[in-house]
Amino acid sequence: MKISFITLFPEIIQSYISTGLLSRAQTQSLLEFEIFNIRDVVTKNYKSADDTVYGGSDGMLIQYDPLVQTLNKVKRDEKAKVIYLSPQGRNLNQSLINELKNETHLVLVSGRYAGVDQRFIKEHVDLEISIGDYVLSGGELPSLVLVESLSRQISGVLGHEDAADNDSFAQGLLEAPQFTKPSDINGMKVPAVLTSGDHKKIDLWKNQMSVLVTLKKRPDLIGPKVKEINWKQIEVFYKSLFAEDKTLLQINDLDLQIERYKNGNL
Ligand SMILES: C[S@@+](CC[C@H](N)C(=O)[O-])C[C@H]1O[C@@H](n2cnc3c(N)ncnc32)[C@H](O)[C@@H]1O
Repeated sequence: MKISFITLFPEIIQSYISTGLLSRAQTQSLLEFEIFNIRDVVTKNYKSADDTVYGGSDGMLIQYDPLVQTLNKVKRDEKAKVIYLSPQGRNLNQSLINELKNETHLVLVSGRYAGVDQRFIKEHVDLEISIGDYVLSGGELPSLVLVESLSRQISGVLGHEDAADNDSFAQGLLEAPQFTKPSDINGMKVPAVLTSGDHKKIDLWKNQMSVLVTLKKRPDLIGPKVKEINWKQIEVFYKSLFAEDKTLLQINDLDLQIERYKNGNL
C-alpha cells in the first residue's frame, strides 16, 4: 500500500514513520510513504497557504488552490483514495480499517488552523475520517493513527501473522486480560489455566473471558455479537471462576447481566 501525506508539517509525519513498525514496513517494501509539503507550492505560486474565513469566524483556513496544486503533485491512478482527516468525518474503527486495508493508494490530507476550504472537500475528497469526537490542532496525528492501525492489518508488518487476529475488536470483542512473569505478584496469581499448558483449555478460557471483559468494560460491543454467544456456557464458565480470579480480572457482579442475556432479554 502506498500512502501519500499532504501536510503543512512534514516533520511530524517524517519523525513518526522513521521509527518502529512503520519504518520496518517501509524497509520491507510492505508500505511506501511519501510526504508533500503544502508550503512547497506556496513559496512558488502563492504568498501563503491560508486566509481568513468568510463570515467573520476566528482563525485561518487552508486555501483551495495550494491544496489542489499539492494534490496534483501526487502521482495517482483512478483507484487512489483521497482522505481528509476531519473531526466531521466517519469515525475510525476496526470495521473502517477492514474496509480500507486492501486499498493500494491512500492520499491523506491533514488540515490545520480552522480546517480547509469546503470546496476542496467537495471537489477532491473521497472520504472524511475522524479519530474521535474531539478537536485536535492538525490532521497529522489522525493520519498517523490511521496508518498505524492499517499497517497492523497488512500481511507481514507484524512479527506474528496472527497477532492482530487476537487483538481487541478483531472479532468484535475485547481481548482477554494477559499476564507475564512473575506468576505471583503480592499474592495476585496468574489464573491457573494459563499456566496449565493445555492449549485447548487456554483457548476456551480466552474466548469466554473475552466475552466477560467486553460485557464489563464495553457492553455496547455485545449487541452485534449477542446471538453468536452461547450464554448458557458463559454462565457456567462465570460460575466456575474462583472468587480471587474474578477480583483480579475485575469482572465481579456480572451475574445479572449474564442471566438477562441467557433469558433472551437483549
Ligand atoms: C482545529 S481543527 C479544525 C476543526 C474545524 N474547525 C471543525 O470544527 O470541524 C484543524 C485540523 O485538525 C484535524 N483534526 C482535528 N480534530 C480531528 C479529529 N478528531 N479527527 C481527524 N482530524 C482532526 C483536521 O485535519 C482539521 O482540519
